[in-house]
Amino acid sequence: MTKLAVFASGSGSNFEAIASAIENGELDASISLVVCDRPGAKVEKRAEAFGIPVLSFYPKSYESKADFETFILQQLNEAGIEWIMLAGYMRLIGPTLLQGFEGRIVNIHPSLLPSFPGKDAIGQAFEAGVKLTGVTVHFVDEGMDTGKIIEQDYVRIDENDTKENLGRKIQAVEHVLYPAVIRSLLQEKIKR
Ligand code: GRF
Repeated sequence: MTKLAVFASGSGSNFEAIASAIENGELDASISLVVCDRPGAKVEKRAEAFGIPVLSFYPKSYESKADFETFILQQLNEAGIEWIMLAGYMRLIGPTLLQGFEGRIVNIHPSLLPSFPGKDAIGQAFEAGVKLTGVTVHFVDEGMDTGKIIEQDYVRIDENDTKENLGRKIQAVEHVLYPAVIRSLLQEKIKR
């Protein structure tokens, strides 16, 4: 069974969607480790509920990104992790992890990339007044949400949507799309 690590900084609803898909037998994989760069984030509690170990760390207690990524890489290798799934990990991945997991790091982003990369993509789309936005799952490279697109799905922005309920609509799509894309990746239906 393929061993995944999920990296998250916040709520962890996408982590939970992946973990639930595994539990329901929809995804033949295991999440062997959750990596969290914000100790105390809600994702820790969610991981605990699934009995999944969490590696939480304070980036600021390391001298550099290379230092903490070297530590993480070591832990991932020890745990036999094959893929890294970013799910709300609010930090650019550096050369250490990119080289260690070349072609095996994936991210989910709440817009139709290349529109609205970076922070608050939902707010950016809402403010821009576009009628369609959505969700992108993509491979991770050194840029900010710039890696090769794997799959997308759209969400319509209606007249009476608020930013908050747009967020809920986007998350509902994410929770279906991410596990489905991971399944295809692990079945090698997607070319890297
Ligand atoms: C998601 O909207 C994801 O697309 C973005 O960060 C958010 C994380 O949400 N990268 P959650 O922590 O999975 O609930």
